[in-house]
Amino acid sequence: MFKKSLILIIAFSILSPLVSRADEGMWLPLLLQKREADMQKKGMKISAKDIYDVNNSSLKDAVMLFGGGCTGEFVSNEGLLLTNHHCGYGHIVAQSTVERDYLTNGFWAFSKQEELPCKGLSITLLAYMEDVTEKVLEGVTDKLSERERKALINANIKLIIADVTKDSHYKAEIKPFYYGNQYFLYVNEVFTDVRLVGAPPSNIGKFGGDTDNWMWPRHTGDFSMFRVYASKDNKPADYSKDNIPFTPKKFMKINLKGLNEGDFTFVFGYPGTTQQFLTSHAVDRIANYEDPARIKLRRERLDVYNHAMNQSPDQRLRYAASVAGIANGWKKWMGEVKGLKRMNSVERKIDFENHFNVWANTTQQRKETYGGLIENFEKLYAEKSTIEMSYLYLVEAVLASDLMKNGRSILAIIDKTERNNLSKDAIQVEADKVLERMNSYFANDYVNHKMVDKEIFVDVMSTYYEDFAKTNSLLIKEKVDNSFSGNARNYFNYVYDNSFLSCQKATKKTLKKFRIKDALSDPAIELLSAVWGDVIGKDMPILNEIDLQIDSLYRHYVVGIMDMNSGKDFYPDANLSLRVAYGNIKPYKPRDGVNYFTHTTIKGIMEKENPDIYDYVVEKKLKELYKTKDYGRYANADGEVSVCFIASNHTTGGNSGSPVLDANGHLVGINFDRNWEGTMSDIMYDPDQCRNISIDIRYCLFIIDKFAGAKNLIQEMTIVE
Ligand code: ARG
Ligand code: GLU
Repeated sequence: MFKKSLILIIAFSILSPLVSRADEGMWLPLLLQKREADMQKKGMKISAKDIYDVNNSSLKDAVMLFGGGCTGEFVSNEGLLLTNHHCGYGHIVAQSTVERDYLTNGFWAFSKQEELPCKGLSITLLAYMEDVTEKVLEGVTDKLSERERKALINANIKLIIADVTKDSHYKAEIKPFYYGNQYFLYVNEVFTDVRLVGAPPSNIGKFGGDTDNWMWPRHTGDFSMFRVYASKDNKPADYSKDNIPFTPKKFMKINLKGLNEGDFTFVFGYPGTTQQFLTSHAVDRIANYEDPARIKLRRERLDVYNHAMNQSPDQRLRYAASVAGIANGWKKWMGEVKGLKRMNSVERKIDFENHFNVWANTTQQRKETYGGLIENFEKLYAEKSTIEMSYLYLVEAVLASDLMKNGRSILAIIDKTERNNLSKDAIQVEADKVLERMNSYFANDYVNHKMVDKEIFVDVMSTYYEDFAKTNSLLIKEKVDNSFSGNARNYFNYVYDNSFLSCQKATKKTLKKFRIKDALSDPAIELLSAVWGDVIGKDMPILNEIDLQIDSLYRHYVVGIMDMNSGKDFYPDANLSLRVAYGNIKPYKPRDGVNYFTHTTIKGIMEKENPDIYDYVVEKKLKELYKTKDYGRYANADGEVSVCFIASNHTTGGNSGSPVLDANGHLVGINFDRNWEGTMSDIMYDPDQCRNISIDIRYCLFIIDKFAGAKNLIQEMTIVE
C-alpha cells in the first residue's frame, strides 16, 4: 500500500497534468525574478527587470491591452502601435463602406492627418501592479459564509480602489488569483483617442480565412496599426483634433534578423482565460457536453451566414465581423475536444484526483482540510449539469437571432417597469429609445436580412428544441404539441412571421403606444419571456450559488495541490492580466509520419493561391513582388520572406497582438494564433503539441514598406539589424 503510493508519487510528479511541464506557464511580470534563471538558461540575455520594473522604464511600458480583449505594442515614440488585423477588424469594418472598403482593399495613412479616429476603442497601459492580498482579505475568517466572504472582499476592494485612484486620472482594478487565494492591484492609464493608421487588405490580413484559422502551416499577415493620441501634457484624453501623438515611456525595437529553430523567445501580453486546475468532472462536461452543443449550434448559424455572404459584397461586409467571431469559437472548440480526448484528459484528471485523495487522507490535519473535496466537486458538478446547459442554450441558441436580441430590449423595458414602478410616461420614454434603435435596424437592408435572421432563428431554435427545450421548457413543449401537432419548425416559423419585431410598421405601432400587455401577447416576446423566466429567473440563482461553492472548493484544492508539490512554482490561471510566457522556436509532429517546420514563407502563399476560393485569393501586387523578388532587407538567409513562425510559448485568447520578443527583448513577431493540435492548452498543456503562431515582423515590415509604400511608418520605427 505504502509502496504503491510511493510509486504513484514518483509517476505523478512526472506525469501529473497539474504540474507544469516544459514551456507551460504564463507568469506574472512582478514576480518574474523567480523565473529569471530559467529564462536565461533557455537563452534570454536580458534581465527580469528589463521586462518589468516599477521605478524605471521597462518593456512593460511598451505593452498594452488593446480594446477589451487583445494585446498591442508600441513601436515608435509617437504612440504608433502594432496589433493583429483580427483585433482591429471591427474598427476597420466600421470605417468601411462598399464604396470605400478598407476591409477588402486595406488602408494606409501616409501622414498623421489621414489617420482615422476609432470610436469606442481604448488602450490600457499598466502603470504598476501590487500584491494586495492582505488588504483584500482583511476581516475574512473561516466563520464567514461564502456569500458574506464575497461581500466583505468586494467592500474591501472598493475601498482600496477608491484610495489609489483618488484625485488622479488613473484607473485601478483588483483581480483574484488562484481562486481568491491571492489578489493583485493593477493601476492603469486608459487612452480613448486611438486612430487607425494601417491595415493590409483582407486577402493579406486574413489570408487563409477561417479555413486556415487555428492551423499550422500558416500564411496570414494578421497585423494592423493604430496610434494613441493624448492631451498636450501626454495624459489620456477623449478625441480632439488638438490632441497630440502620445509619447510612451518605452517602445519596442525591431530585430530584422529573425529567429531560427531552438532560439529563445517570449511573449508579453494579456492572456484571457485558462483553467489548469479543473477537476475531471468539469473537463468531462466541457469535452463531452458543452463544447459539442456549442459546436453544433454555431455550425448551423455559420451555414446560414456563409450562404448569405456569398450572395453580395454588401452582405459579405455586413456579416464579416460577427461571422469571424462565431467561426473562431466554433473551430477552437472542435480542436479543444480533439486535444482533450487525445490526451485522455478526463482519465488523467481522475488518476490525479485519486492520488490527491490518497495524499489528503494520510494525516489527520490534511484530512480535515482536503478530505472529501473531490467528492464534493463531483456532487456539485452533477447538480449543475442541466442548469448550466440551460444557460449555454440561452446564449448560443435563443439569443442567436436578432429577433430574440431585439426581443430582449422589449423585455428589458418590462423588467425596468416592474422593478422601478415606472409611470406611463417613463415607460414610453424607454419604448421611444428602443424604437429609435429598431428604426435604424430596419433601415439596413431589412428585406435581405430578414431572410437570413429568420433562417437562423428557425434552424437554431429547432435544434434547441430537440436537444433541450422539449424536456426542459414547458411553454415551448406545450405550444409545439398543442398548436403545431408536434412540429417545432412550424411553431418557430409562426413565431417569426407573426411577431411585431419582424415588421417595421407593426414595431412602430407597438412601440409608439407601448403597453406591456400587448407586448407580452406577441408570440416572440411570449417565447422569450418564458425562456428568460426559466433561465435567468429560476436557474441562474441556483447556478450562482453552486458556482460560489465550487469556487470555494477550488480555493482549497489549489492550496492542497501546491502543498502536495511543495517546491514547485505554479503559475496562476490567465485572467486578462499582463503575463510573460517563454519558450523556444520549435517544430512539432502533429501526427504519424508528418513533421512541421518552424517557418513559412511567401512561397507558401503562392502554393495556396486559388483565385476561385475567397480565402486564397492573392493580391496582384504581392504576386509581382514575389516574381521580382523585390524583398530588400526583409529577405531571410535563403532570399525568401518569412511569413509566420511557431514557438512553444504558452498563450491563449487575449494574447492576440502580443509582442514576440527575442533574447535581447527586441520585437521579432506578433502573436496571433495557436495550432489546432494545441487548442486544449487552456485546460491541459502538451509540450509536444502546443505551439503559438506568430506573424514574422519581417513580413509585416515588407508589407508596410514594399507592398503599401508607407515609408513614413517604417521611418518612425527603430530597427536593430
Ligand atoms: N484564432 C485566432 C484567435 O483566436 C484568430 C481569429 C481571427 N481569424 C479568423 N479567421 N477568424 O483569435
Ligand atoms: N487569436 C487569439 C486571440 O485573439 C489568440 C490565439 C489563442 O487563443 O491562443 O487572442
